[in-house]
Amino acid sequence: MINKKMYDAINDQIKNELESAYIYLSMVAYFHQQNLDGMAHWMRCQVHEETIHAMKFFDHLTNRGAPVVLKDLKQLKTTWKSPLEAWKDAYAHEQFITAKIHSLIKIARKENDYTAEPLLAWFANEQIEEESNTDKVCRQLEMVGENKQGLFMLDRELGTRVFVAGSPFDPAAYNLLQ
Ligand code: FEO
Repeated sequence: MINKKMYDAINDQIKNELESAYIYLSMVAYFHQQNLDGMAHWMRCQVHEETIHAMKFFDHLTNRGAPVVLKDLKQLKTTWKSPLEAWKDAYAHEQFITAKIHSLIKIARKENDYTAEPLLAWFANEQIEEESNTDKVCRQLEMVGENKQGLFMLDRELGTRVFVAGSPFDPAAYNLLQ
């Protein structure tokens, strides 16, 4: 049996994670329009990863016998002034998600939800990487500035991302996520 506050907050977080996937999918479309297929590829991997995050919370509720309630996703930004602006939005969004995870941890501690704590600890740790990845690309884009060759090289580099976790809907596969 899960406490009502914890239940509501996890349901909200499923929406937040799916919204992350939706935001990054919008960036995939934008990067393709800019012929930055490497960045689009990186973001496609990220869409996959965010869906896994949502499913981790989804399965947590399901396994505790609590019904998942999917909520509306918000209207998206669909274009950006520059690749740097898009990556800055991605970094800001990850900071927002980190704050949400910390708030979930506070609720779990207040409500003595020892069952949710290991899952939330995984997410707190995961957010270090999520922020670092997007922040690093922002810094690299700032370093490159107006240099088209540098942008091309960075795009190539981001296009090499390998994502091995498998289907986001298969718990056996998503456990491979590091
Ligand atoms: Fe699910 Fe990018 O945090």
